[in-house]
Amino acid sequence: MDRLIIAGGRPLEGEIGVSGAKNAALPILCSALLSAEPLTVARVPQLRDVTTLLRLLKGMGVEVETEGDKVRLAAPNTLEPVASYDLVKTMRASILVLGPLLARFGHARVSLPGGCAIGERPVDLHLKGLQAMGAQLAVEHGYIVATAGRLQGTHIFMDTVTVTGTENLMMAATLAEGITVLENAAREPEVVDLAQCLVGMGARITGHGTDVITVKGVPALHGTAHSVMPDRIETGTFLVAAAATGGHVRVTGVRPRTLDAVLDKLREANAKVECGTDDIRLTMRGANHGVSLRTAPYPAFPTDMQAQFMAMNAVAQGTTVITETIFENRFMHVQELRRLGANIEVEGNAAIIRGVQGLDGATVMATDLRASASLVIAGLIARGETIIDRIYHLDRGYERLEHKLRELGAEVRRDHAGAIE
Ligand code: UD1
Repeated sequence: MDRLIIAGGRPLEGEIGVSGAKNAALPILCSALLSAEPLTVARVPQLRDVTTLLRLLKGMGVEVETEGDKVRLAAPNTLEPVASYDLVKTMRASILVLGPLLARFGHARVSLPGGCAIGERPVDLHLKGLQAMGAQLAVEHGYIVATAGRLQGTHIFMDTVTVTGTENLMMAATLAEGITVLENAAREPEVVDLAQCLVGMGARITGHGTDVITVKGVPALHGTAHSVMPDRIETGTFLVAAAATGGHVRVTGVRPRTLDAVLDKLREANAKVECGTDDIRLTMRGANHGVSLRTAPYPAFPTDMQAQFMAMNAVAQGTTVITETIFENRFMHVQELRRLGANIEVEGNAAIIRGVQGLDGATVMATDLRASASLVIAGLIARGETIIDRIYHLDRGYERLEHKLRELGAEVRRDHAGAIE
């Protein structure tokens, strides 16, 4: 099993470009299911989650051609609308095929996602929304079996803000009869990116980016070409890594406005942050003040950046508190950070971080995607060598991470179970 070996203690310095956003690419690739005409998606990051989704789509009969970071998909009328357990279990976002399949084919069999390392993460709101649109749903042998005539537009209120839930229902509504209103919809930029792709395919959507999205159903969608937005979480991860190591970086190909909450917190931690139209420069030369924060749906502070800030706070001056309000079990990085010498206590959904002088390298284990990113940052800060086991989690969501870090002067190498790259 691959592991990362980091020789810490060097500030990150230099310039790096970010990849397309994983969380936008996944729903956008699924939107190809809504039309028989081809969808060409550019700036698709090469990640394990993307490979998994493309395998799932190919398995149904979707034609997939890849060239560099471009993927061309065509979903013929004859495809088999089934998503099997062996792939769905490895990636919860596979549930995103359900809405499009049901809307276009009138039936679908999609494995229920299994348990997940970061909490319960149910899909009840996806299912309730589809039912409100007229779908009949049953669970048989671990599969969601969904049937519908043409879905019917309706008013759907979601009592929790759900990103993939909003995306699934928005995709389903594009082909429904009449108007669907999604209330308390997610406002995440990835939802907006998906909506823009759907509009390019002929969907009639308004209100994306606000918490009320209105979709006027059309009988059919057509092909289009779309370029995936830059990954704001990858961007934020490089910026925090630079701040935590007292470095200076320029991150390019980004949309600074999608990172307002994160940049605000970096400034509060004493970093100097300057934004251009598509780049962000960060310099951290003085003391790291750390920063208390609370995760919440966009535009507030993203849960996907919480673990990285915790690594930075571990070596800040003073005590900070990180409160997680989205997922109930998202502090698994805490015990690994403690192995590196961090002083962190967890009380319910809050972590209290008492800054220490420095961290010391050790062997740690990655537990989920963003927890792994936090361990990488901790490894970059720590004195001596940090070995991170089970980095397949990182490969799910960060493209060429160790190469990019090396470009910024970090000493990082990948050990392929023995062979060192
Ligand atoms: C997406 C992101 C993930 C991010 C998360 C929150 C993708 C592929 N993944 O995950 O990186 O961490 O948003 O920003 O885009 N919930 C329910 N019922 C449902 C659905 C969700 O109760 O039917 C709850 C969840 O348990 C959680 C909260 O809603 O407490 C938010 O989850 P949600 O936004 O759905 O997360 P994902 O879309 O799975």
